[in-house]
Amino acid sequence: MAFELPKLPYDYNALEPYMDQKTMEVHHDKHHAGYTKKLNAALENNPEFYKKSIVEILSDLDAVPEKIRTGVRNNGGGYYHHNLWWEQFAPGKGGKPTGSLVKAIDAKFGSFEEFQAEFKKTALGVFGSGWAWLVKDKNNELSLVGTPNQDSPASLGFDPILGIDVWEHSYYLKYQNRRAEYIDNFWQVIDWEVVGKRF
Ligand SMILES: [Fe+2]
Repeated sequence: MAFELPKLPYDYNALEPYMDQKTMEVHHDKHHAGYTKKLNAALENNPEFYKKSIVEILSDLDAVPEKIRTGVRNNGGGYYHHNLWWEQFAPGKGGKPTGSLVKAIDAKFGSFEEFQAEFKKTALGVFGSGWAWLVKDKNNELSLVGTPNQDSPASLGFDPILGIDVWEHSYYLKYQNRRAEYIDNFWQVIDWEVVGKRF
């Protein structure tokens, strides 16, 4: 079975005014669809990889034939990261995490506000295109990582908990060069229940 583009779990305009409808349309229907299509095309002659999950593939890129490895790393990362991306939002959400996640955040960063400040710093520090992530390691320890392009935290041995896409395709139509403002508004649409389950 080839990898499938998941349907957007809400309307294109559901995250307005923080994420605008036009960006959502292009981001899901063009960019995410493009990664999905190119991932499947890269694996066409190695269909045994269709049986693996995308996390299994990205966690062991050495197992991917060298000829297609870069394509799988880029498009597989793009496919996986955007699956996580749509899932972590919902209209009318925001607020703060709860339960074991907020305890772990407080223990690691001091407070939710300090975590937000560090996360923002990481996201602003990604040069060019990439992502910033809150991740956990095998011992459930939280940390922040910035990754270039579509390189995946899964390839570094981490489980992504929360990610922000800082490719310009994610914010340029609405925010132009104002990445900081985009990051500040990102919190308004986070569904912490979904994020908490990942933790
Ligand atoms: Fe994106």
